[in-house]
Amino acid sequence: MEFMDAKTLLETHGQGHVLAFWDKISADEQAALLEQITTLDFAAIERMKGMLNAAGTPAAAASAFEPAPVEVPEGDALQACVAKGEELLRGGKVAVLLVAGGQGSRLGYEGPKGAYPIGPITDRSLFWFHARKLVGLNATYNTRVPFYIMTSDTNDAATRAHFEENDYFGLPREDVFFFVQGMWPALTPEGKIILDKPGHIFMSPDGHGGTLAALDRSGALADMANRGIEQVFFFQVDNPMVAIADPSFVGIHAAKGADMTLKVCKKRDAHEGMGVVVVRDGHYAMVEYSELSDEQMERTNPDGSLWLAYGSPAIHMFSYAFLKAEAERAMPLHLAHKKIAMVNDAGEVVKADKPNGYKFEKFIFDVIPNAKTLACLAFDREQEFSPVKNAEGNDSPATTKRDLQKKWLAWLTAAGITIPEGTPIEIDPAYALDAAQLKAKGLQIG
Ligand code: UD1
Repeated sequence: MEFMDAKTLLETHGQGHVLAFWDKISADEQAALLEQITTLDFAAIERMKGMLNAAGTPAAAASAFEPAPVEVPEGDALQACVAKGEELLRGGKVAVLLVAGGQGSRLGYEGPKGAYPIGPITDRSLFWFHARKLVGLNATYNTRVPFYIMTSDTNDAATRAHFEENDYFGLPREDVFFFVQGMWPALTPEGKIILDKPGHIFMSPDGHGGTLAALDRSGALADMANRGIEQVFFFQVDNPMVAIADPSFVGIHAAKGADMTLKVCKKRDAHEGMGVVVVRDGHYAMVEYSELSDEQMERTNPDGSLWLAYGSPAIHMFSYAFLKAEAERAMPLHLAHKKIAMVNDAGEVVKADKPNGYKFEKFIFDVIPNAKTLACLAFDREQEFSPVKNAEGNDSPATTKRDLQKKWLAWLTAAGITIPEGTPIEIDPAYALDAAQLKAKGLQIG
């Protein structure tokens, strides 16, 4: 893009100030700025501006809702679904999609969150645990499950390097597909694009909803089609307990012919940071925890149980056809009021001591209302959910390691193995994906 084209484009959209320091920046910075302007999605920026009212405050909250019905899978019907899931896995019809573009700022970890050491004995990384589950699936079902990993500009190179250094954790390289999510500018309350340096636009990841556009743009969707993928298992990088593409989940989803199926689990307490699945205006939807009021979170049923009892661990199944159709639609935007260091009219960078700008994100679960068939399945969080989100306290490395070991101890006990209390435990998922596989190994200790 040439300077004059950029100027015309920006002025047309009321963003001419982006070039205010053009004459004061170097030739390299000018080239980089033009490159940034090329990536701007002005249709999305206009939508963002529409979300800020004249006073610069977010639009009013959405209408009333009820908690969505939740199914507890069990009995013969469940067994039939497991068989269906196994058949799909054996037939190479299942792909795994991991969103790992986030910045892990709450954990205070430099580098991709997936590289965080979580193995209680070996310090092996979150990515190691995820990838080794795919190695286990491949061996169990004599198949090759492709692994699609979304990164962002901030961690793409380091993520790839982590996989290289670890020889892809034993996965065939050609089955691991990295793709980068999009970046977006932030806006002032008046709807102006924020510069964080003279001649440099502040950009941040477009949220995990950016997965859909990025899957399409990167060729990952086409790759899925070439491989004959029918069902896609989705999860987040922070939970090493996740049962990746477990046949029961895959099978229930497929047997229902659902566009999307979500796992949900009982919330630890009213304020746990989990989105909740609801029915609003006759459609399923997710309400993110940051968008719930205290009253909604704390409300109880007559028996004292929480009204919004179940939360989403962000473990989903999508049909490939639904993902592909959704990749072609514009997604809703969510805004967050943030402190952003920005350039003033004099070209000086000013730190913010209170929120001064809006960041925008897309959330993958906003596709939910478009799903024609959808189900919420309850599962036991002690088996499958203990994310690493904070440096300390709940959902920290310490609680995740504790929960992993508790689960593995139960597997060992079920396999008839007794070990002294407090013995550190770590099980390679490629050795045993679950308690039954561990038992089948016929391990003897002592
Ligand atoms: C998330 C969910 C919440 C759910 C909870 C379960 C959102 C908005 N909320 O909350 O509904 O109940 O997990 O643990 O997701 N990511 C990207 N790109 C981005 C932003 C995030 O790939 O631009 C990825 C992260 O790497 C991570 C996941 O999305 O794997 C979740 O992001 P995070 O910000 O940690 O979400 P939570 O607030 O914990």
